[in-house]
Amino acid sequence: MTTFARIAGTGSYLPEKVLTNKDLETMVDTSDQWIRERTGIVKRHIAVDGQTTCDLAEQAARRAIEAAGKKPEDIDLIVLATTTPDKIFPSTACLLQQRLDIHGCPAFDVQAVCTGFVYALGVAEKFVRTGAARCALVVGAETFSRVIDWTDRATCVLFGDGAGAVVIEASDEPGILSTHLHADGAYEKLLHVPGGVSRGFDVDGEDGDPRYTQMKGNEVFKMAVNTLGRIVDETLKANDMKKSEVDWLVPHQANIRIINATARKLSMSMDKVVVTVDQHGNTSAASVPLALDTAVRDGRIQRGEVLLLEAFGGGFTWGSVLLKY
Ligand code: COA
Repeated sequence: MTTFARIAGTGSYLPEKVLTNKDLETMVDTSDQWIRERTGIVKRHIAVDGQTTCDLAEQAARRAIEAAGKKPEDIDLIVLATTTPDKIFPSTACLLQQRLDIHGCPAFDVQAVCTGFVYALGVAEKFVRTGAARCALVVGAETFSRVIDWTDRATCVLFGDGAGAVVIEASDEPGILSTHLHADGAYEKLLHVPGGVSRGFDVDGEDGDPRYTQMKGNEVFKMAVNTLGRIVDETLKANDMKKSEVDWLVPHQANIRIINATARKLSMSMDKVVVTVDQHGNTSAASVPLALDTAVRDGRIQRGEVLLLEAFGGGFTWGSVLLKY
């Protein structure tokens, strides 16, 4: 019998400190109205000094493990998606493993920026399907505020910090139906942090401050809308499924206008789309599991329903997961 990977439990965590659009008005030349109209964002959460990606990941992971009715010792694989790791090494997945007092199972990070959680789920699902793992912890966690220039109004209004997690386990019943992962590195310069360990942080090049996110917002916007439209088609076709068979769209939470466009592509009314971008802005790899956990915990998403998860991010990377919850 085919082994599927099914979601056993979800969890999420937002740091306590809140930064509102009004707060941003005092920091850069922007307005609450502009941010709401162009992005749908009302507030975002920011990790305080000393609060790390692993701190956020741990809270989300513990909640997901509890919701799954599991104990940390049941976990036999940890895949953690982040762009903002605590350390250069060990991986944040290994740091999380230590926190959870889990020993011996594989633990590694996945880096696909905002598509990170979709990539991580795609990878972990393969382990479970092949029998290499039975109960995997998959986390998306970011302190994206650390790679933002808080004097740059074009980027600082968009991002926030947070974490989300799921526990997936082997099951005879579906489960994850398909995953679709893509990348095209040709778009490197449209959305990137130019500095890095190997390249260095002191370069005074044409790419802008090497420490912080540089983005051509308008071009990213157009690419995101087109690409996410295509991945919806690809996912439905691969499953021989009609748009009307999808119960919930759980999109990457970057911008309400991008989410609206994907919902239109699916002919889906917005009450079938999970929207949390207003509450936490773009939390990169954390945004899909944050949205998923929100709609599971408030009772909107029910067992047996079909969910389409999708994301787009730096790289460019993009991907989707179709699953029966
Ligand atoms: N507050 C006020 N005005 C701002 C602003 C801000 N925070 N940021 C930019 N502006 C200004 C611009 O300077 C420009 O002014 P101008 O017309 O005088 O030149 C004007 O607003 C319009 O800018 P533009 O970039 O064309 O706006 P937009 O409608 O494309 O919205 C984004 C900008 C960033 C919200 C939008 O492009 C976007 O969401 N892009 C995708 C970003 C994203 O999701 N990235 C992550 C992908 S994972």
